[in-house]
Amino acid sequence: MRQDTEKSLVAVDDLRTFFPVRGKWFGKRYVRAVDGVSMSIDRGKTLALVGESGSGKTTVGRTVLRLIPATGGRVLFDGNDIFSLTGPDIRSLRRRMQIIFQDPVGSLNPRMTVGNIVGEPLKVHRLCDSRRDRRRRVGELLRRVGLEPAHARRYPHEFSGGQRQRIGIARALASSPDFIVCDEPVSALDVSIQAQILNLLDDLQDEFNLTYLFIAHNLAVVEHFADTVAVMYLGRIVEVAGRDDLYANPCHPYTVSLFSAVPHPDPDRKADRVRLKGEVPSPIDPPTGCHFHPRCPLTRKAAANGEAETCQITVQGEAVTVVRKCVEQTPELLPLPDNPDHCHACHFRGT
Ligand SMILES: Nc1ncnc2c1ncn2[C@@H]1O[C@H](COP(=O)(O)OP(=O)(O)OP(=O)(O)O)[C@@H](O)[C@H]1O
Ligand SMILES: [Mg+2]
Repeated sequence: MRQDTEKSLVAVDDLRTFFPVRGKWFGKRYVRAVDGVSMSIDRGKTLALVGESGSGKTTVGRTVLRLIPATGGRVLFDGNDIFSLTGPDIRSLRRRMQIIFQDPVGSLNPRMTVGNIVGEPLKVHRLCDSRRDRRRRVGELLRRVGLEPAHARRYPHEFSGGQRQRIGIARALASSPDFIVCDEPVSALDVSIQAQILNLLDDLQDEFNLTYLFIAHNLAVVEHFADTVAVMYLGRIVEVAGRDDLYANPCHPYTVSLFSAVPHPDPDRKADRVRLKGEVPSPIDPPTGCHFHPRCPLTRKAAANGEAETCQITVQGEAVTVVRKCVEQTPELLPLPDNPDHCHACHFRGT
């Protein structure tokens, strides 16, 4: 995908985050949670990161915010390499980058009043001159997210799930950030509340020109929300495109399978479901070549049709014939011939 660092607020280049784990027999090994991710997000836009559980979405978000250390790669925020910042520059970065968590219960300290929760960033970043000023600002923030200034005196357990997520949003907004990582902000909420929270995030984006990295499990949530969608599988981005392009023409077989998992409201529509074979492999010992090859329907089909040199692999005790290249070579994330903004990482180009 073309990267325009002038326009991009966040530019991620070959990001890698590995977690050491101690194996029983093999000594130190690594979970390759993020394994060479590159992407960029333009100012005021939303990039949605979608993928199954364990694909590394949260780790990307947290590494970009410098909440966990990167193993390699680079993140430019507004042109600054965030991994080389120190001292006061980190503090200023923290003010400009915020996060909204998936779990509106666990992410709010139950012993703090809502006023103290929302006011904490104002205190930490010394954004108010006096207590009174801070109280006034907290009231404004609560009102902006659809709550009452009087709610500042209450505790998180006195609110519903949707209201708690509004408190989390007010806290993220408090430091007037430019960039917010929204880590599955609606997954824990009732469907009717989800739309309200998504609308709120949408309005806030317009009002404050916010840039979002929006993490989601499935493609349905981001359909009306994202400008660009990146699909992640086992630590890597396998497809990235403008929202409309991706929904109209999903190319990577993993993206196609994610689409077929989205329930469709039209009962007459024939469900051309793609059921994936096998479990998501472990990121401690990911498959060689294309990480997706043990579950990929395309490589099996191409092998059965004799389209390329094949080899045998074992998937859950079953012998399967696949294309050798898929097992041996990592496919690059490359643009489609007719659309430089739509990239996918698959050896079967033009599919
Ligand atoms: N601190 C850690 N130590 C070891 N492994 C970790 C750590 N954090 C995450 N992982 C592993 O890294 C991989 C990616 O995790 P991550 O939480 O980023 O996935 P995710 O895509 O956000 O999943 P979910 O949709 O369930 O939130 C997983 O295999 C996870 O077990
Ligand atoms: Mg996660």
